[in-house]
Amino acid sequence: MPGRILLIPDGPAALTYAPELIARLRQRKYTVQVAPTAYPGPSALAFISELAWTTLSGHPCLPIEKLNDEEFRKHDLILLGPVTQQVLEIFSRGKALEYLQKAARPLIALPARLASDEPMQTNEFKSIMPENSILSQGDETLEMGAMGTLKITGIDDLLCQIDATLGKNDLKALRILVTAGPTAEDIDPVRFLTNRSTGKMGVALATAAALRGADVTLVHGPLQTAVPELPNLKRIPIRSAEEMHGAVMERWTQMDVAILAAAVADFRPDHYAEQKIKKVDGQALILNLRRTPDILAELGSQEKRPFLIGFAAESDDVEINALAKLRKKHCDVICANDIRKPGCGFAADTNQITLYSPDKPPMHLPMKDKRELAHDILTHALADLKKS
Ligand code: CTP
Repeated sequence: MPGRILLIPDGPAALTYAPELIARLRQRKYTVQVAPTAYPGPSALAFISELAWTTLSGHPCLPIEKLNDEEFRKHDLILLGPVTQQVLEIFSRGKALEYLQKAARPLIALPARLASDEPMQTNEFKSIMPENSILSQGDETLEMGAMGTLKITGIDDLLCQIDATLGKNDLKALRILVTAGPTAEDIDPVRFLTNRSTGKMGVALATAAALRGADVTLVHGPLQTAVPELPNLKRIPIRSAEEMHGAVMERWTQMDVAILAAAVADFRPDHYAEQKIKKVDGQALILNLRRTPDILAELGSQEKRPFLIGFAAESDDVEINALAKLRKKHCDVICANDIRKPGCGFAADTNQITLYSPDKPPMHLPMKDKRELAHDILTHALADLKKS
């Protein structure tokens, strides 16, 4: 079990933020117990009932006032999500603070404020909360309908902080290179060739590996997804297949693992036009395309190559094509997906992957959000590497 988390929600964020947070924590195998605030006014219990909290978390919900010494001690992390004036008041009277201090568990607090309000005064928080508490001042905008707009730490960033606090460091000694996103092959200063990749799967893999302690280098094309700021996640933005090839070739000898999740353009224009190509009435434009370097195949042909994980997006004969790619490109693992399946397309948030390795039966991973699936891929694909 990665850890037990006591979540103390308050205010309208209880409705708009906490349910997704709980679901994401549970997907990550954290045990979550909720201790909602309960007071006359916009408390967490006013927004979501006790039964609903219990259902969401899978554990009996206990309003904050009823928390005792033992409840605090049985958790590995306390999450004030969010910390508000009301929460601080609850802690400054009653026994909750004494219990919290005695339990000496790490505490992460998320100040949430209406977009129009000033950020929370850190002094006020620090004067009440134990010394080593973490105040996570995020700036993600959360629309809350009639309740206005909230500024709070984004769930991705919070998960990073939780993982780091609870020390999920199973990939710590590894240097991992990840490629992600599409590449863009310029035709002229205005036009280019590209594909539908958003980069979500590759970024999810890079993020998950960094959260688990690896030293990650992410070489990526133009992305349509955010990359979290993490100290051990280095970004190398590139544009074309040629540039991605150069960035990878420069670095692969220093890597233990290479995960090539980018949708690299297979062809680029033979010639780049310095000036915008003008159309001529009645005339077609013929572009000559030439092959780009196959980065995965080139790494696979190196004698002392890193542990190599490739991707195969297939629309038919998934197994046959994935196994052929595994052999042809000399990979250790191929992650194959059937792009015809609902929820497995390029821009989808979810994916379903089957892992193919030489001399092993295929491993079908369940369909999941790409951010969670990334963890499963790392766990299974790197299992052999960690044993050796
Ligand atoms: N890849 C690469 N460099 C390229 C092309 C692909 O590194 N120039 C990598 C991708 O990052 C991915 C794998 O190779 O890991 C995909 O292989 P590829 O043969 O391109 O798959 P498809 O595009 O699906 O190939 P095909 O069109 O033959 O099905």
